[in-house]
Amino acid sequence: DVPHLLDSFGRIARDLRISVTEKCSLRCTYCMPAEGLPNLEFEQLLTAEEIARLVGVADRLLGVREVRFTGGEPLVRKDIVDIIALTARHAPGVELSMTTNGIGLERRAERLREAGLTRVNVSLDTIDRKHFASLTRRDRLPAVLGGIDGALAAGLTPVKINAVLMRETLHGAQDLVQWCLDRGVDLRFIEQMPLDADREWARSTMVSAAELLDLLGKRFTLTEIGRTDPSAPAEEWTVNGGPATVGIIASVTRSFCADCDRTRLTAEGTVRSCLFSDSETDLRVALRGGATDEEIADLWRGAMWNKWAGHGMEREDFVPPERSMGAIGG
Ligand code: GTP
Ligand code: 5AD
Ligand code: SF4
Repeated sequence: DVPHLLDSFGRIARDLRISVTEKCSLRCTYCMPAEGLPNLEFEQLLTAEEIARLVGVADRLLGVREVRFTGGEPLVRKDIVDIIALTARHAPGVELSMTTNGIGLERRAERLREAGLTRVNVSLDTIDRKHFASLTRRDRLPAVLGGIDGALAAGLTPVKINAVLMRETLHGAQDLVQWCLDRGVDLRFIEQMPLDADREWARSTMVSAAELLDLLGKRFTLTEIGRTDPSAPAEEWTVNGGPATVGIIASVTRSFCADCDRTRLTAEGTVRSCLFSDSETDLRVALRGGATDEEIADLWRGAMWNKWAGHGMEREDFVPPERSMGAIGG
């Protein structure tokens, strides 16, 4: 009997996303408020040991196969290398990856790989320095580009670039594709989800996958391949006959919730069954109260069983969740 995390719609979660902090070195408008999120107390955060123990439980008792570290910005945590090393030791069969804004990656890429990280996805919405600074509210493009080079040099590959589709940066999309082709990194564009702290998202003004495809089609020949893995969020197109590809994560206009295989832990140690569900199950309190691995696994199973069918963005009465993206981890 292979253990697994099942929900009432028959989906199995094999992919765990762990936010390790809500702090970030950038302030992207689609994610964070200008002033950042309120600081969590040290005691509210899971420690490296607690993270490693939870991943061990997820591995041995719940059938989780992949773990992705997110934030906020995971590299803001001073003990991120220890978190990865300890996790790798507790759950040797699990693939460890990270989604980062790239700042601080150049300096740490090698140590992260030695600790057990296999690959990184780096958020980069535009290669135009001025537009980067206004979207992220920080003039840090050179540090991000250095981080990408560092990841490539350290073999944290394939490196994937994540670009959230925003009206202000859309005109640079073709240049971003060309830049990624030149460097040999994979690029995925992402439809903006209503998870911005400022609550400015509107379906009527967001950039859709269809609009992006029109724009890219003016400079490149795109051929649809589809999803390489049924539970992957990105659909892929070859560019100019391949082998290079560009992906689109169209959570809004072509939602993929029916094939979702995700379970999430917030930096505070609560399980979230979906980006969009505010109902959370506290594993940190259970851990610190002396719960056994079996008891933690049961709590986690209960949390996932109640996962919704989908995000419900298409509904009239849709309300965005309380937590903004920076407090969930993407
Ligand atoms: P790969 O394993 O490399 O494909 O990573 P990934 O795309 O699963 O993770 P990444 O952190 O790079 O996320 C890219 C985008 O996909 C972000 O905008 C995430 O918020 C979004 N995303 C990831 N998982 C889900 C999900 O379960 N549902 C939705 N709607 N979006 C998701
Ligand atoms: N909608 C879609 N993707 C987002 N991300 C952050 N905020 C949003 C949003 N509102 C992306 C980041 C990062 C990933 C974890 O989530 O760009 O690459
Ligand atoms: Fe930070 Fe990532 Fe949010 Fe940008 S998208 S503010 S890099 S957490």
